[in-house]
Amino acid sequence: MTLAAVMRALDGPLAVEEIELNPTGPGQVRVRLAAAGVCHSDLSLANGTLRQPLPAVLGHEGAGVVVEVGAGVTGIAPGDHVVLNWSPPCRSCWYCEHGEPYLCLHGDDAARVPFATSGDEPVYAGLGTGAFAAETVVGAHACIPVPADIPLAEAALLGCAVLTGVGAVTNAAKVQPGQSVAVIGLGGVGLAAIQGARLAGASAIVAVDPSPTKEELALSLGATHFMAPGNKLAREIRGLTGGIGADHAIECVGRGETIRSAWSVTRRGGTATVVGLGSAMDPVQFNALEVAFFARTIVGCMYGSTDPAVDVPILLEHYRAGRLNLAALVTDEVSLSGVGEAFSRMRDGRGARTLVRFA
Ligand code: APR
Ligand code: ZN
Ligand code: ZN
Repeated sequence: MTLAAVMRALDGPLAVEEIELNPTGPGQVRVRLAAAGVCHSDLSLANGTLRQPLPAVLGHEGAGVVVEVGAGVTGIAPGDHVVLNWSPPCRSCWYCEHGEPYLCLHGDDAARVPFATSGDEPVYAGLGTGAFAAETVVGAHACIPVPADIPLAEAALLGCAVLTGVGAVTNAAKVQPGQSVAVIGLGGVGLAAIQGARLAGASAIVAVDPSPTKEELALSLGATHFMAPGNKLAREIRGLTGGIGADHAIECVGRGETIRSAWSVTRRGGTATVVGLGSAMDPVQFNALEVAFFARTIVGCMYGSTDPAVDVPILLEHYRAGRLNLAALVTDEVSLSGVGEAFSRMRDGRGARTLVRFA
């Protein structure tokens, strides 16, 4: 039996209960979690913004130690330290064969089938990962090995926030040295995007969030300016950029209004990269003149347009060289029973990442 935070109803409490993980099947790996970050996508799955079969164990930003491997698994063994990939590519579909593994047709296969039982009931793993549990069972291709000297609590953040935020800047937006970047929304993902902009050599890095408590952390991670969202934002950003607007905006909230704002703060010919995952009921509006006139590009971005197998080692090099601050993204630590309080903080825009730590 494995302790897990189980969600039985939309917006319901996450009760810490014993579940029975499925046996580790062929090609699968059982992992003992060391830490799991609470991401806004977990909250979106919990409140119905994103679809989730129930009952479910959420959590998709995890790292831990392999405890068992199934038949046919090679290259990974008990004792190995791993970061979990919540969209593991099949390596053989059209997207995988065309260099876009983050759009793999099978990336969500594991989310569609139960990974455990509770009594007679099947239990699903949020984003196929189920990291709010002491142990989980995932495909071997969802495990990215990390060297044993990397603290697992920091490695966990690579699994979603950092791959997504840094990847959005370097892989999707492809920010060039000297360019100006506005990052809208300063949770774990946006604060990672700020670090990505710094790594890319951006000149001005404007951090945007309604919560003034985010300013200090954003500036310490590389932002050059902090601004509140609102009607004046585009004008204020033009004021910083010779009157033209930002070369890039990175949207890390997931709302129609902020996607629209990301587009509006860029210069003519600029690029807005949308990382946030919002509701299918929340529209984004453009008028028929401005799209052609401003000649901007809007880019959607899944998982930072990364291949975790390739990009996690690159991020670890930045980490080792002191260029990527993972620990600073964690503002709260809780046990398994604390996911609900992490959701409350997130709803209020308080703190950055909450990390669930396993004893
Ligand atoms: N303008 C700018 N920032 C905003 C606005 C707004 N109008 N409204 C909210 N925010 C800020 C919040 O104050 C918070 O700091 O956006 C931030 C969101 O942070 P988190 O809730 O911690 O979200 P995070 O986990 O970083 O994910 C961001 O990326 O992967 C997706 O599903 C995820 O859509 C979510 C987004
Ligand atoms: Zn996430
Ligand atoms: Zn594929």
